[in-house]
Amino acid sequence: MWGTATSSFQIEGSNNIDGKIRSIWDEFCDTPDKVKNFDNAKIACDHYNRFSQDFDFLDELGVGCYRFSISWPRIVLADLKSKNQKGLDFYSKMVDDLLSRNIEPFLTLNHWDIPQIFLEKGGWTNRECIKHFLDYSEIVSNELGDRVKYWVTHNEPWVISNCGYKDGIHAPGEQDIYKSLLVNHNLLVSHGQAVSIIRNNSKDSQVGIVLNLTPGMPASSSDADKQASKLFNQFFNEWFLDPLYGKSYPSDVANDWIKKGLIPSIDFVKDGDYDIISVPTDFLGINYYSRGIIRSEEISEEENLPIEIVAGDKTDFEWEVYPNGLRDLLIDVDQKYSPGSIYITENGCAYDYPKVDGVINDKRRVHYLESHIMACKEAVDKGVSLDGYMHWSLMDNFEWAEGYCKRFGLIGVDFETLERTPKESFWRYKELIKSL
Ligand code: FCB
Repeated sequence: MWGTATSSFQIEGSNNIDGKIRSIWDEFCDTPDKVKNFDNAKIACDHYNRFSQDFDFLDELGVGCYRFSISWPRIVLADLKSKNQKGLDFYSKMVDDLLSRNIEPFLTLNHWDIPQIFLEKGGWTNRECIKHFLDYSEIVSNELGDRVKYWVTHNEPWVISNCGYKDGIHAPGEQDIYKSLLVNHNLLVSHGQAVSIIRNNSKDSQVGIVLNLTPGMPASSSDADKQASKLFNQFFNEWFLDPLYGKSYPSDVANDWIKKGLIPSIDFVKDGDYDIISVPTDFLGINYYSRGIIRSEEISEEENLPIEIVAGDKTDFEWEVYPNGLRDLLIDVDQKYSPGSIYITENGCAYDYPKVDGVINDKRRVHYLESHIMACKEAVDKGVSLDGYMHWSLMDNFEWAEGYCKRFGLIGVDFETLERTPKESFWRYKELIKSL
């Protein structure tokens, strides 16, 4: 399946209507010095009012699926239990519109914009709060389960826990490594518990989780860099993959944090948790943007070997363009974890190109798209069960703490007029979809 991906908060706007309650990202945007240029998503792409016109672009592209997310604050009332029918109706209309075009809705329940009230009750740091996520999963799957056949519980738990609770650059902006691990654990437990709820309400559906995976490679052949890279991979990738696929959390990195006094222990893991987390799923969603070139911090630059890796071009986010990383990652994950079916649920790049004579000629995105799709093809040729590719993103949108200055869209959006302009990458993707 070919597709494109978006998320509710980043495109919808209309943050205050039809009974929507406040989300932690509304709060974060209203707090000074959190989001670049003090940007907010009150209007964003105004997708809430224009979804059908936006879906005309999906028709034009010829995609078979569309990944989007549900805004939890639109779905529940302030008790986090009763449903807000207007919010459900919005997504129901959206799903019907997609299906009328023969486009499979690929639905994500949690793409970060959780209710502020949920946070005030402790949110992901409070294990008791998992029940609210399960109530929400029940409501949505009950309403849409007859029509939606692809379900994602959480998008990128690493980003939720690390950017939100360790580095403090995303909502809710905390900086506490122990809390970030706790959040992560509760996310994984809630994933495991939500799977059966979704399956119950949506027969013959496929359920999975989406991870952002970034393979780390040692900057030099020094032992220190190799060790740093090993810990990076455990922290970034295996911390999720291992428990989801039947193992425990990787011990080297946990012991390293304990040794450094960063956390006392991982005492939040209770008996039976690993069984809950490793519930069999139907697919693994992978978001791939780049690799990490890992240098040990424990050895000074002078003592260490020079960096031996030549990094490729960088996008506006300073993320290196490294398509082979995607191919190798797919092969590696398939061999080590056998997830059965894999989808690339996000892959894309931030580049800003001006519109000249009506055309946005985003050459470097065209190259990124072609090279990463070829990397997927190479992985498929090597036997990886990759069942779909979704490009991030359908259109330029609100890029979280970066506001509107990072542009990932196949379609350009003028945030003054809200005019949409398909970029050259859009037309190239259309050709690729047709030819592959
Ligand atoms: C991912 C997010 C997505 C978008 C891209 C650029 O981490 O899932 O919402 O911000 O990065």
